[in-house]
Amino acid sequence: MTTENIVWHQASVSASQRQALKKHKSAVLWFTGLSGSGKSTIANAVEVKLNQLAMHSYLLDGDNVRHGLNRDLGFSDHDRVENIRRIGEVAKLFVDSGTLVLTAFISPFIQDREQVRALLPEGDFIEVFVDTPLAVCEARDPKGLYKKARSGEIKHFTGITSDYEAPIAPEVHLKTDQFSIEQTAEQVVQYLRDHGYV
Ligand code: ADX
Repeated sequence: MTTENIVWHQASVSASQRQALKKHKSAVLWFTGLSGSGKSTIANAVEVKLNQLAMHSYLLDGDNVRHGLNRDLGFSDHDRVENIRRIGEVAKLFVDSGTLVLTAFISPFIQDREQVRALLPEGDFIEVFVDTPLAVCEARDPKGLYKKARSGEIKHFTGITSDYEAPIAPEVHLKTDQFSIEQTAEQVVQYLRDHGYV
């Protein structure tokens, strides 16, 4: 067999061509906040709205990803860094595929979040700070984890025995103790409208 008449064809569908097909930009909505702050709930509500707007989206959620891709990781600082590094790489693939990806991880360290930002083209990383005071998260305690952390049953618990570094200049700042899930979700979608993503 000869390759004489066969021209190498470079597969070159680019991210912008995929975006053109989907008729919207792709980006990461990176939700960060304490356990029980409402990251997953708000991200879910945002995704419903995006779906209604005919946008291609995908939600990566901490608790779920830790059952699969990151099942080998725990909650030491080292493992949390690796958790976020992997999610950052996955999010980057989703952005390249033309998808608006939402991530809901505590992601407690500024440096790790900034590393994910640096992986992506300018403007493709939208940091969403789910700003819920620790006392409110602890009072909610939806999974009973704060109680366990206080009694010493869980070690390295964020906000109790492990650090949380709040974003300094997030693109979107959600005050969940003042606004409802519907209002905070709408605030995120409004950001996307204002910046030409929708
Ligand atoms: S992160 O710090 O590495 O970003 P991630 O968002 O993946 O954390 O997982 C946090 C979830 O794991 C929490 O919502 C909670 O349900 C559960 N969890 C179990 N142990 C801990 C712990 N020590 N600290 C924080 N969350 C924990």
